Amino acid sequence: MRKVNIFDTTLRDGEQSAGVNLNMAEKVEIAKQLERLGVDIIEAGFPASSKGDFQAVEAIAKTIKNSSVTGLARANKRDIDAAWDALKSSEDPRIHVFLATSPIHMKYKLKKGPEEVLQYSVEAVQYAKQKFSVVQWSAEDATRSDKDYLVKIITEVIKAGADVINLPDTVGYTTPKEYGELYDYILTHVPNIENVILSTHCHDDLGMATANTLAAIEHGALQVEGTINGIGERAGNVALEEIAVALHIRKDFYQAATGLKLDEIKRTSQLVSKLTGMVVPGNKAVVGANAFAHEAGIHQDGVLKEASTYEIITPELVGFASNRLVLGKHSGRHAFKDRALELGFELDQDKLNEAFTAFKALTDRKKHVTDDDIFAILADKQTNQPDEKQYELESVQVQYGTLNTPTATVRIKTPEGSILEEAGTGSGSVEAIYHTISKMVEGTVRLMDYKLQSVGSGKDALADAYVKINYEASESGGRGSAQDVLEASAKAFLNAINRSMVSKQPARNKVNV
Ligand code: KIV
Ligand code: ZN
Repeated sequence: MRKVNIFDTTLRDGEQSAGVNLNMAEKVEIAKQLERLGVDIIEAGFPASSKGDFQAVEAIAKTIKNSSVTGLARANKRDIDAAWDALKSSEDPRIHVFLATSPIHMKYKLKKGPEEVLQYSVEAVQYAKQKFSVVQWSAEDATRSDKDYLVKIITEVIKAGADVINLPDTVGYTTPKEYGELYDYILTHVPNIENVILSTHCHDDLGMATANTLAAIEHGALQVEGTINGIGERAGNVALEEIAVALHIRKDFYQAATGLKLDEIKRTSQLVSKLTGMVVPGNKAVVGANAFAHEAGIHQDGVLKEASTYEIITPELVGFASNRLVLGKHSGRHAFKDRALELGFELDQDKLNEAFTAFKALTDRKKHVTDDDIFAILADKQTNQPDEKQYELESVQVQYGTLNTPTATVRIKTPEGSILEEAGTGSGSVEAIYHTISKMVEGTVRLMDYKLQSVGSGKDALADAYVKINYEASESGGRGSAQDVLEASAKAFLNAINRSMVSKQPARNKVNV
């Protein structure tokens, strides 16, 4: 069995998904879960791209002990210095330097010739190697690059000290056969290739990211880059959980394995979905809610007789334990704390108290409190950053009737601590709330997207609302949970405004990668 290293870029390429802007506490919480999942390398961000990214990479580098932490850098000293400053306190830091090698990127984006790109790459790797013991170099848009040019530049960056070479399918253009042949070509033509690990990094524009990644593994890649739930630029990156489970289930074919703890997959997927607002489609492979549901009578009959007739992956393998009804009205603080730990949350005393209060309030209103409800409460409390000055929802009241114009009355606490109350109308209840809040905050807010999802099932289920707004010319995402959809919607809207104020710069401030 070949060991394939898992390089998770949920916090870098994944965070580049439209409308995703995680705060520092959320990024650290995701990184801790990735460590628990057993990923080998966590790409925590792009330190030179913004102050927020730098600080998050630094915080993750200090927190994570059992995975290597890396940061992205363009092929220049400033980016490499920023990456080193953010990562130097990590147990096991490494750097990921990239430069585009395709004619189209060199000509139009970089405005540089192939010789210049080669020189920049070599110099960047040499410089990075003075600081980092492990240097990865990526040939951006490798799949649209000239193969012989790739051979030449890869030979030189290996001489300059690169330890890992990545051949990204940046625009999701390649096919499995073609991508496999690229790995064969590089392995047979680059004379010093045995000194490095070959990595694969696929985007899903044509829906081929998983097939392409598996082809790269078949043809010699020993590192896989991807994200949880396949989030990422445009159509996203390859979903790491699909690769890990495919290698596990088809080990007879691939003869390769990852070190992931597969039964942590569901929790990781749930956390990433909750914190990014990128809802997992029901039919998504491995982690979708329907991935283990057998609907057709013939299938149900088969599964009852012998599960393997229609079930190649068991729910338990990937951590889909039954959603237990664990705690109730009479459960005490101790039982709640134990359950929080079992669900992977180590909360400090204040956050634990807040979560316990929210849990008790929920047990008054909801008959069956499930693991999913507790998970939602804990994730919210754990990633709340209370030190920031924020707008807070005090109350919301809506008058709605099929024959009336919906009217909302909203009370909020401003970042300065004063209480504002305002009323407004809209063509629906949510619009009435959003119009009203927009009148109360400084600046112009425009709603770009709105999503609502129930946490688990049942008519008394918690609601998770997600919004994307444009606030003062910057895009920002926000989320809110409550038992009532209107309260959840109001919280999500204020949360997006708060996040936008905290970052004080466009949420999509990332330097274009
Ligand atoms: O898709 C891509 O090419 C990237 C690089 C920065 C590796 O994300
Ligand atoms: Zn990418």
